[in-house]
Amino acid sequence: MRRFSGEGDIPDEYMQRILEAGVWAPSAGGIQPWEFIVVRDRGRIYQIKLVSPGLFGDPLAIVVVCVNLERARKGGRGGEMMAIMDASMAAQNMMLAAYSLGIGSCPIASFSKAAVKELLEIPDHVEPILLLTLGYVDQWPNPPRRRSLEEVVHYEGYRKHR
Ligand SMILES: Cc1cc2nc3c(=O)[nH]c(=O)nc-3n(C[C@H](O)[C@H](O)[C@H](O)COP(=O)(O)O)c2cc1C
Repeated sequence: MRRFSGEGDIPDEYMQRILEAGVWAPSAGGIQPWEFIVVRDRGRIYQIKLVSPGLFGDPLAIVVVCVNLERARKGGRGGEMMAIMDASMAAQNMMLAAYSLGIGSCPIASFSKAAVKELLEIPDHVEPILLLTLGYVDQWPNPPRRRSLEEVVHYEGYRKHR
């Protein structure tokens, strides 16, 4: 969702439910390497927009999904890659929770990590990986077409489709 109405307010209770859904994501080895920064201040949202070429529309809030690299390293080899998967699962959970509350969202990877780190005073051992924009929607867009299951799914081995 990229076209927000710009109207309304996300109640604290809704924001809590969205964030709560994030921490209930699975994580490799139960490491829970995620951290979330909630940005609701209009001025700060605007500053983030300036350094985020992939951020469209006027969201009411942004959740900056981060990986705490110190926690991720506890996961051992491949910890950082696993941590990105973990945090991505948390992000999807939050998007689904938002949708269930009537709130649209968009995941955004196209942003300047360095600039966002500086703006939000994020320490070196924490890496922002995704911005989640949140806001109300006048009209839900039609979802883009999906590749068909026939094309995507293989049975009992790569060479077999149904
Ligand atoms: C990892 C990831 C990064 C994305 N980054 C951006 C982005 O920077 N800007 C943007 O507008 N959409 C971004 N998207 C949203 C995709 O463009 C969107 O999911 C895709 O167009 C399919 O649309 P749908 O999710 O409505 O089916 C991203 C999605 C994912 C999963």
